[in-house]
Amino acid sequence: MRVILPFFLANITFSGFTSADPLLAVLDKTVDLSTFSSLIQKTGGSKPNPALFERFNSALDNRNYTAFVPTNSAFETISPSILTTLSLPQNYELLLSIIRTHLAEGLFSSSQLEADAPILSIEGFPILFTNDSSTILEISNIAADNGQIQKLSKVLNPYTEYFGVSNLTKAPSTGTNVTGTMKDVLASDRRLSILNIVLGVIDPEYLTRLSLTKPGNASQVFFAPSNYAFSALPNGARDSMTAPSNALLSAYLLRYGLLAGDTKSADISPGMQVMSVSFLEMRIKQAEADAVVMINNAGVVERDLCAENGCIWVLDRLIDPLFGAF
Ligand SMILES: *[C@@H]1O[C@H](CO)[C@@H](O)[C@H](O)[C@H]1NC(C)=O
Ligand SMILES: *[C@@H]1O[C@H](CO)[C@@H](O)[C@H](O)[C@H]1NC(C)=O
Ligand SMILES: *[C@@H]1O[C@H](CO)[C@@H](O)[C@H](O)[C@H]1NC(C)=O
Ligand SMILES: *[C@@H]1O[C@H](CO)[C@@H](O)[C@H](O)[C@H]1NC(C)=O
Ligand SMILES: *[C@@H]1O[C@H](CO)[C@@H](O)[C@H](O)[C@H]1NC(C)=O
Repeated sequence: MRVILPFFLANITFSGFTSADPLLAVLDKTVDLSTFSSLIQKTGGSKPNPALFERFNSALDNRNYTAFVPTNSAFETISPSILTTLSLPQNYELLLSIIRTHLAEGLFSSSQLEADAPILSIEGFPILFTNDSSTILEISNIAADNGQIQKLSKVLNPYTEYFGVSNLTKAPSTGTNVTGTMKDVLASDRRLSILNIVLGVIDPEYLTRLSLTKPGNASQVFFAPSNYAFSALPNGARDSMTAPSNALLSAYLLRYGLLAGDTKSADISPGMQVMSVSFLEMRIKQAEADAVVMINNAGVVERDLCAENGCIWVLDRLIDPLFGAF
């Protein structure tokens, strides 16, 4: 994620709070950062995640943190329905990861941020400061007892960069109908062996889920990342997906490709939006020139690989649930 540095970083006079509180309390008091603050309140479903408060708002954790916080106007460019959906309990892991992507350990005043010197966010994604990007850091240096707040002109989404954007150059093939369930397809199709292994480690219940039918035998479609999609991740990312501390988020991201409702695989066509079980929409697009079909950032290698309880689409990237949303 790239954040542009403002032009003259030197000679900036400090204009923040003088009597400080812990980070989240200062955030809460800063008028034009109230949207971010209200999202923090929703990270535990109906109440904020206590872990955020223990870490960033408590004297027990004596480390300093810097929060890079998108302003309310930055959030105004995002469709309100996306923010509402992100605040639903089933999207808790995704929302938490987005919030943690905006927090870093250490004190970073604007004059300490250097172009091309990335900072690691608490979530583990690097924030790179550059001189050319559409995300602008506003000079704010708002002080808290245990850190500092800097304002951003845009919400950061780490997933597009992390998962990559498809570079496929041909139209998807169409799968043949197979016997067995979607779970059996994951176990036998060599292109899906990594997904099968990863789910087996972090989310075996989900493999069981893929062996079941929906009530009333409604249609099921699962967009599944192939081994190629896992190989396109940065070095070490596949192993970190199965680390216990990441298992809940990884499970969320892999479950994301199952569609809600009763959409028939054969009826899905470019130009449509289809809804994930997380209630976020995915956009199906086709490039006229080369007939490549994309679902958000992911390219479709094969569509309509239909088992007895549902159909699988094989993708060349993990799906970024927030592709283009910010
Ligand atoms: C946090 O920042 C304060 C103020 O600069 C400093 O005195 C303190 O040592 C820092 N704490 C840690 C754990 O680095
Ligand atoms: C970024 O811009 C600043 C101010 O113009 C300049 O001093 C600095 O060298 C630039 N950094 C890079 C990496 O281009
Ligand atoms: C393959 O399965 C799909 C979904 O179950 C079904 O709609 C389609 O008619 C089947 N095609 C053939 C050739 O059996
Ligand atoms: C497509 O992307 C993959 C993964 O990032 C990369 O290894 C490969 O070289 C790319 N292929 C082309 C033709 O750019
Ligand atoms: C459910 O639908 C699929 C696809 O149309 C069909 O192959 C299967 O036999 C149906 N199962 C039941 C229990 O009706």
